[in-house]
Amino acid sequence: MALRLSLLHISAVVLVVLFSFLLNNSESAATQGACATHDHPNPLAELFPNNATGVLNATLAIIPIPLATARRLIPPQYGILERAYRTLIPNFPEGMYPVMVQAAHDHDVQFRAYGITMDDFSRVGFEFPFLDLTGDGYSSFRWAPAQLISATNDIALDGSRAYGTLVSPAEYEPACNAYRQLANGATYFKGSSLTSAEFVELEMTRLQHPTLSPYSLELFRNITNQPTFANATSCDNMIRLFNTSMSVGAHAPVPVRGRVRARAFPFQGGVKEWADVYGVQVATPFIENNYLDCRTMRGYSGTGGPGDSYMSGFNSNDEL
Ligand SMILES: *[C@@H]1O[C@H](CO)[C@@H](O)[C@H](O)[C@H]1NC(C)=O
Ligand SMILES: *[C@@H]1O[C@H](CO)[C@@H](O)[C@H](O)[C@H]1NC(C)=O
Ligand SMILES: *[C@@H]1O[C@H](CO)[C@@H](O)[C@H](O)[C@H]1NC(C)=O
Ligand SMILES: *[C@@H]1O[C@H](CO)[C@@H](O)[C@H](O)[C@H]1NC(C)=O
Ligand SMILES: *[C@@H]1O[C@H](CO)[C@@H](O)[C@H](O)[C@H]1NC(C)=O
Repeated sequence: MALRLSLLHISAVVLVVLFSFLLNNSESAATQGACATHDHPNPLAELFPNNATGVLNATLAIIPIPLATARRLIPPQYGILERAYRTLIPNFPEGMYPVMVQAAHDHDVQFRAYGITMDDFSRVGFEFPFLDLTGDGYSSFRWAPAQLISATNDIALDGSRAYGTLVSPAEYEPACNAYRQLANGATYFKGSSLTSAEFVELEMTRLQHPTLSPYSLELFRNITNQPTFANATSCDNMIRLFNTSMSVGAHAPVPVRGRVRARAFPFQGGVKEWADVYGVQVATPFIENNYLDCRTMRGYSGTGGPGDSYMSGFNSNDEL
């Protein structure tokens, strides 16, 4: 009897300990669980300690819109370099312009030399590539006038606003990843503004074979390496690398097709829906040079100028 009692006593203690352990654990799992990301760590922080570097795990998709609509949405002072995009997508439908929707999770942003790290965040918006910002007739720039950005990240919100971007603090599904898997196998991503009715939602299905996509990876590499601007007070030069271990082999870019629904600037009116949108899901590390004078970037290699995008000190896949 005494033995039983003490056994009971012990097991009760054990249970209490176990229970509080589980409780603590599930608490921390819940807080982290809300932000447990599958993104790979930033491989560039060590190679470029004196630069802002990070990882963007993204769905990039092209929405063809009539050139006349593009002309109406894009501020009139910026010419549209149709020849530049026709070089990359010769079969793109006549009279159309490629808007890119970028839905991404920004991960492990660092400025290593200064010990600066930034919380992850998500962002989504429409981007208008191949624009003649400097009036030279060939340097391509990308207008990204509006973004929905995770409401939890003040630095990202303010950092984007400093470009003159219309920024909406937003919540995301999933909260801390580039997308989540639906029961039907498709991937899902949605950003919803907390301060307006704006949202952008993507549901994409992986294509069985890359050749089924009308767009090459080269197109997306080209567009995402064009300097970005909002009100053109300054330009963001983000160099996205598509050739690190993050984007090859098991993690090679996946061509996707799907549906984009949105109510977001600069599209006007109600909810827009585009079906049969093609794109790619790819994670790339990046180096970001912020708040540059746009004019100094005219003719820069990323824009289609004569330069060479080779960066000394970075030429091996194996090191990453
Ligand atoms: C990108 O995000 C997806 C979805 O969360 C994840 O499965 C994948 O591992 C990520 N890729 C990289 C290279 O971080
Ligand atoms: C890193 O930052 C320096 C200083 O801003 C800049 O001159 C250099 O071009 C950047 N490196 C890359 C690879 O962009
Ligand atoms: C662009 O936006 C920035 C940040 O809000 C602001 O300081 C600047 O005056 C704006 N420039 C123009 C031309 O609107
Ligand atoms: C992007 O494409 C244009 C052709 O439209 C080309 O001139 C330019 O060099 C490309 N940029 C990069 C970084 O590959
Ligand atoms: C990787 O891409 C960058 C720019 O996109 C280029 O400068 C570099 O030479 C490439 N490295 C390899 C090994 O292809």
